[in-house]
Amino acid sequence: MNASVTERLSDFQWPTEGVTRVPYRVFLDRDIYELEQERLYRGQTWNFVGLEIELAQPGDFKTNFVGDTPIVVTRDKEGNLRSFVNRCAHRGSMVCLENSGNRLSFSCPYHLWSYDSTGALRGVPFQHGISGKGGMEEGFRMSEHSLQTLNVTTYNGLVFVSFQQDMPSIETYLGQRMRENIDRVFNRPIQLLGYNHQYLQNNWKLYFENVKDSYHASLLHLFFATFGLNRLSQKGGIEVDETGGHHISFTKMNTDEGREGEYQKSNLRSYQSKFTLEDESLLAGRPEFDDGVTLAIQTIFPNLVVQQIYNTLAVRQIVPKGPSETELIWTYFGYADDDDTMRNIRVKQSNLIGPAGLISMEDGAIGEIVQKGVIRDEDQSSFVEMGGTGVESQEHRVTETSIRGFWQQYRAFMNF
Ligand code: FES
Ligand SMILES: [Fe+2]
Repeated sequence: MNASVTERLSDFQWPTEGVTRVPYRVFLDRDIYELEQERLYRGQTWNFVGLEIELAQPGDFKTNFVGDTPIVVTRDKEGNLRSFVNRCAHRGSMVCLENSGNRLSFSCPYHLWSYDSTGALRGVPFQHGISGKGGMEEGFRMSEHSLQTLNVTTYNGLVFVSFQQDMPSIETYLGQRMRENIDRVFNRPIQLLGYNHQYLQNNWKLYFENVKDSYHASLLHLFFATFGLNRLSQKGGIEVDETGGHHISFTKMNTDEGREGEYQKSNLRSYQSKFTLEDESLLAGRPEFDDGVTLAIQTIFPNLVVQQIYNTLAVRQIVPKGPSETELIWTYFGYADDDDTMRNIRVKQSNLIGPAGLISMEDGAIGEIVQKGVIRDEDQSSFVEMGGTGVESQEHRVTETSIRGFWQQYRAFMNF
């Protein structure tokens, strides 16, 4: 890391109130963004990069990102998962330009240096020159010019990579409660249904705050509350792991009888309408989890969301692209044993989410609206005291506890 970055940040002080205040500078500052790449994405984190089902066969590969660094994940010919930085050891070109495919060797587009699926250099055109002229020096060793490799691990079909070799196991990193929800969603073989890529004109952490913010769901999302899908009066809760970085928020449907008064009292816009759906099949679904949980949103620090919204299952990857740019990659799936009706239910319900989703389109907009709001005031802070000032699990969702948890873990990594 460029020493001047840390020097320029030497005046940066987190507000004395702690995690109930978030300085707007963290959403705006290029130096903070640079430091995040090093301390967080290249630090002691497991970064979600895909599903094992996307890399089922030897030779299968996909390109992705850790922070903003391009990487490749492959399954080598022995069947092991591998990962390397997508940057040629010659002069830095990205080696692989495809999203995914199947191949056991990767040839850089620039001068065709070729690498195998472990990232080892296997061929250099004109290594010995032409007619004895030119070429590499005598001492050139291909073995000294491999692609930079990353540490790879999996948990129940999810693939994670790390720049650090010395990492806790993924089981330890996730912790027991987070593993339980992953096991609950990934309870049998899955089937991919499709992808969305969404581009947000805001800092990645504003999206992370949004996903951890159950307080906004019935307020910002008119569709949710208008059709009675999600009210804070329904039974649910928030669980925050001991680091604060991971969380699960869950809701049980149809559990708010007699608890709706607060909505009527508050005269909320979402409660005033008497709209009904013209076509109820949009929301037709099947109960499929024994625990009655109809909505479970889980975050794994620093870049993963595991989502169950009714029968819509997805993982979302948050990819920072600059201080005010973020890409969101949605991967939708069902189970391999779904019948046709169930598959159609999942696909139809997926209209609720994604970039143009009837529910989640506002999430794509609100981060940009915040980004525009804070633009000139990096020395001011947000106020995060809903549900108290601490970081703990709570048996309701009228709280910002998991947002405070995120900032607790963020500060620990960033040393702020
Ligand atoms: S930059 Fe890759 S072969 Fe030259
Ligand atoms: Fe939302």
